Amino acid sequence: MNNKEILCVVGTRPEAIKMAPVILALKKEPWAEVHVLATAQHRHMLDQVLNLFSIRPDIDLDIMRPNQALTTLAARILLDLDDVLLAEKPDAVLAQGDTTTVMTVALACFYHRIPFGHVEAGLRTWDLQNPFPEEANRVIAGRLAYWHFAPTERSRDNLLREGIADREIVVTGNTVIDALMITAAMDPELGIDLDLDKRLVLVTAHRRENFGEPFNNICRALRTLAECNPDVQFLYPVHPNPNVKDVAYDRLVDCTNIHLCEPLDYAPFVTAMKHAYFIISDSGGVQEEAPALGKPVLVLRKETERPEAVEQGVVKLVGLDEEHIVPEVQRLLDDESAYKEMARGISPYGDGYAAARIVDVLRDHFA
Ligand code: UD1
Ligand code: UDP
Repeated sequence: MNNKEILCVVGTRPEAIKMAPVILALKKEPWAEVHVLATAQHRHMLDQVLNLFSIRPDIDLDIMRPNQALTTLAARILLDLDDVLLAEKPDAVLAQGDTTTVMTVALACFYHRIPFGHVEAGLRTWDLQNPFPEEANRVIAGRLAYWHFAPTERSRDNLLREGIADREIVVTGNTVIDALMITAAMDPELGIDLDLDKRLVLVTAHRRENFGEPFNNICRALRTLAECNPDVQFLYPVHPNPNVKDVAYDRLVDCTNIHLCEPLDYAPFVTAMKHAYFIISDSGGVQEEAPALGKPVLVLRKETERPEAVEQGVVKLVGLDEEHIVPEVQRLLDDESAYKEMARGISPYGDGYAAARIVDVLRDHFA
């Protein structure tokens, strides 16, 4: 087989985490000439993941600007992709998930008539405003994709419901579990001085639809919980988006048992998840990783495109109101049987072989 150029695109932290296993697996294939394009929609948070997996981008668009508007972000990526696709003429392009990077890559590939493989295809809430703008991004990417690498049977069903042909969909598992297994095996240091005799609650939050009042509610709930539970420590690596960071530090910096810090690099974050008693988060990736580590997650959202772990009782939606969040967190701290019920180690999102299944599809296609 002649060499085929596969262009793998990453923009943000979760895309790098979830594409890294695919890039590493493709690099072992003799027929594949793998090029990595970083839009760098995220800068620091992207670079630390690429360094962890020893991936060096061949092309770097260096797109990130402080607090950039979505329209500007999309327009700048799209224009730059035009030049890249004309110069590279890849045989296939792969990208993961539902960010602005992925939506624009799918569109640019469609215009250039280059087959686009969507990794983590078929997640849906069926509400375009929730999560915003990710639901629209993944619907658009899904409509334009040539290959749909769905993480679960549920995501395959979602795609079928939208009229995607069954033969274009392959259920692979989520590559985040591949990345988690590779990283956990490194047994990384946490690198933060915490009292490991105290129970640790890990917190993350960054969703755009939660900016403003919902995020103020989250901060109020965290303050109440910290004050009522001085024997518990909260570790909160704060997302650098100014709409999150400024509010979180303003509202919580004086709480002695809430440890606010910069986003943790992926390896120490995996260690933090392992040390955590449970996790409070609105993150997509964390909803997938934590069940595999046997850690309950209370999700700061009203709905989720990842219902599998909720249905199995190891992830729970707790919404965005202080009066709902506080009792749910308190129950998990106080009620051991409720805790044990949620702390069962199950992995509905993958078995660590998702990247290998994606590579199999591409190998068969080009053969
Ligand atoms: C983006 C994705 C979201 C994904 C999240 C993962 C979009 C529209 N949003 O949200 O789907 O869940 O990433 O974290 O694609 N910033 C830094 N340093 C960084 C990264 C971000 O300072 O390393 C700041 C910058 O001011 C930047 C802002 O955060 O402008 C927002 O970044 P952006 O990529 O637009 O959106 P996120 O909220 O990070
Ligand atoms: N993560 C990390 N450091 C942190 C917080 C999260 O490495 O301080 C990892 C986490 O393990 C998961 C990914 O980042 O794999 C999720 O990213 P994020 O929550 O920003 O985005 P989402 O998954 O919601 O798109």
